[in-house]
Amino acid sequence: MSDFPAGFRFGMATSAYQIEGAFDLDGKGPSIWDTFAARPGTIRHGEDGRVAIDHYHRYAEDVAHIADAGTHDYRFSFSWPRVLPTGTGTVNKAGLDFYDRLVDALLARGVRPVPTLYHWDLPQALEDAGGWLSRDTAYALGDFAALLADRLGDRVHDWITLNEMSVQVLYGYALTSHAPGLGLGFGALPAAHHQLLAHGLAVQALRAAGAATVGVAAQHFPVAPASSDDVEAAEIFATLTNWLFADPILRGTYPESLAPLLPVADGDLEIIGAPLDFYGVNYYEPTLIEAPRPGRDYHGVLEVDIPEEMPFRPVPVPSPERTDFGWAIVPDGLTTILTTLRDRYPALPPVIITENGASFHDPAPGPDGRVRDARRIAYLDAHLGAVRAAIDAGVDVRGYYVWSALDNVEWAAGYDERFGLVHVDRATQVRTRKDSWHWFRALIAAHA
Ligand code: BGC
Repeated sequence: MSDFPAGFRFGMATSAYQIEGAFDLDGKGPSIWDTFAARPGTIRHGEDGRVAIDHYHRYAEDVAHIADAGTHDYRFSFSWPRVLPTGTGTVNKAGLDFYDRLVDALLARGVRPVPTLYHWDLPQALEDAGGWLSRDTAYALGDFAALLADRLGDRVHDWITLNEMSVQVLYGYALTSHAPGLGLGFGALPAAHHQLLAHGLAVQALRAAGAATVGVAAQHFPVAPASSDDVEAAEIFATLTNWLFADPILRGTYPESLAPLLPVADGDLEIIGAPLDFYGVNYYEPTLIEAPRPGRDYHGVLEVDIPEEMPFRPVPVPSPERTDFGWAIVPDGLTTILTTLRDRYPALPPVIITENGASFHDPAPGPDGRVRDARRIAYLDAHLGAVRAAIDAGVDVRGYYVWSALDNVEWAAGYDERFGLVHVDRATQVRTRKDSWHWFRALIAAHA
C-alpha cells in the first residue's frame, strides 16, 4: 500500500443499534428499529438488536480492540432514545452517562471520538408523531445536538450529523425493507427534506456550542445505465439517491426535477447548505440501473423489491468478485465517485471515507485462535488503493474508516453478515481479532 499524506486519519466505525443491545435497560426508550425488528418477517431469521453484541456492557473491552490497533478515530453513534427516551424532553441520565464513559475510555487510550448524532434509530415516540414526515423531528434533532454538545463538547471536537439519509428515506420510508417500513414511494420525499433540515439545524447547534469540526456521512456510488435505453432511468435513480442529498448540502439547491415535490420553507436551503469542515463518504458498490422491461419479473433479482410505479430497477452489477453479502467488489467505483463529487461540487470540503468494508461469512476462530479473512484484507487494501488514486487525481481525502470495528447486526440482514475486523461469537459474545485487524494495525503503524 502506497503512502498517504501526512496527517491522514485511519479509523473504525460502528453504530448504536448495531452493537449496543441493552434495548430497554437503564431507562432507554424504544427506537423504530426495536419496533420494526419485533414485527414478524422483517429481519432475516427473525433476529433483532435487543442484545446485539452487548457493547453497552462490553464497551471497555471494545475500546481496547479499537485502540490496540493504533486507530486514530473511532466513529460511533448515539442512541437517541437512550439519551431522550421519547426523543424530546427529560434526559435519561444513565443513557447520557454511558456516552460520557465511552468518550473518556477512548480519550484515555488516545483515540479521537467522532460521534454521529443520528444513525437511523429514531425514538419510536417521534415516529408516532409523524417521524421524518414531520418538520418537528428536524427541530428535535437540532435540540438533541445542542444537548450532546453541551455535555460532551469539552472532550468531543469532531461531529457527524446524520448517517446516510438517502438509505433511510429510500429503504425505510419509500420502501419497506428498513424501519419504519412505510412503503410510501415518492410520498417519502418530505422525509428527505426534513432529514436535510435536521442536518442543517444540527450544524447550527454544534457550531453555536463551539464544535471545531462538523461533517455528515453520506452514502454515494456511481450509477450506470444497463444499456443506452436506460440512461434516463439511471439519471432518475442517481438524482434520488446521490444528488437529492448532496446538492442542497454542497451547493444549496435541490435538483430541479425534485424541488417542486419538497416542502421547503423560506430559509431552509441556507440552513442546509451551511459550510462543513468535512464531507463523509460511505462507499460499498456501484449501481446498475435499467428502465423496467415489460414482462420481466424483478422479484428477488436484488435484496429489495422496487414498487411497480418506480421508473427504474437496480440490476446486479456484473463483477468477477462478490462479497458473501452478494455485493459487487468494484474498488474503482470509489475513485470514480470521489472524482465525480469533486467535479460536481466546487465547494466540496475535505473528504473522509466514513465507511467502507465488506461482509464475508468468516468461520469461527480455529484452534490457533486465528480468523483467516484474507478476502477482507484484499477488499480493504484495494479500496485504500482507490482512495490513493483519488488523492493522486486531486481529491482532498483526509481519512478512511473501516466498516466495521466489530461484527454486528446488519439491520434487516441480521447477524449472518460479518463486516468486523474483530470476530464476535454470537452465543458467547467472545471477541477475536481477525487477520484483517492485525493487517490494519500494521498498516497504521507503517504510516505513523
Ligand atoms: C450503514 C451501516 C451498514 C453498512 C453495511 C451502511 O449503509 O451506514 O450501518 O451496516 O452500510 O450495510
